Amino acid sequence: MNRPRLLDMFCCAGGAAKGYHDAGFDVVGVDIKAQPRYPFEFIRADIMVDPVENFVAWVRANGFAAIHASPPCQAHTSMKTMPDARPHLDLIPGTRERLIATGLHYVIENVSGSPLLNPVKLCGSMFGLGAKGAQLRRHREFETNWLLMGAGPCQHTSPTIGIYGEGCRDSRRKYDKTIPEFTVVDGREAMGMPWASLAEICEAIPPAYTRHIGQQMIAQLQSQRLAA
Ligand SMILES: C[S@@+](CC[C@H](N)C(=O)[O-])C[C@H]1O[C@@H](n2cnc3c(N)ncnc32)[C@H](O)[C@@H]1O
Repeated sequence: MNRPRLLDMFCCAGGAAKGYHDAGFDVVGVDIKAQPRYPFEFIRADIMVDPVENFVAWVRANGFAAIHASPPCQAHTSMKTMPDARPHLDLIPGTRERLIATGLHYVIENVSGSPLLNPVKLCGSMFGLGAKGAQLRRHREFETNWLLMGAGPCQHTSPTIGIYGEGCRDSRRKYDKTIPEFTVVDGREAMGMPWASLAEICEAIPPAYTRHIGQQMIAQLQSQRLAA
């Protein structure tokens, strides 16, 4: 059976893409920047520049069955209130407008506090993610136009590994500075992205999240096809 095609908007190095691929989708990624480590078909483009009707025509012509979008989160992170923070464009409303216009199943991902509609929150602790005995939490939220089930409550334990712009943080260092930070190898393991750079894992969502989402979405697409 043919694998349905999924458009991965704002794809970066493909954390989200890997999970959808594992769930059974053929994935095509689009990013405004070159992504030499993206593991699937890749198109370099500004995905927000064409008029909505041209975007919809392109999506139809390429036979996509579903769309995932991870618009940049900088407009919504806690860093936005720092004194030296630059203003960032909120691409969520424009992205949603595009996705709705296609009529396809969609997922929009972003950080907690972003203006997503009735999102489902996922956490690394729901999937047993981590490295060297430290837990990866990395809360992210997902808006869908179809019924997405969560993955149960958070199962927080400590210590934690935090993957941010400056590196892979060990929570124990708050109390004991003799403990070294985690390495990028630890970060890759915690995220499930062995192919990616530090900067890329900082931007990414763990493939485990989109595997969970993709498995449900593909089941719904299949039952829709059977019912048609
Ligand atoms: C948060 S990252 C996506 C992370 C990705 N989902 C993952 O799991 O690896 C956002 C990406 O959006 C890209 N981007 C920003 N504006 C864009 C635009 N107008 N068109 C296409 N890509 C854009 C950035 O270059 C960046 O790689």
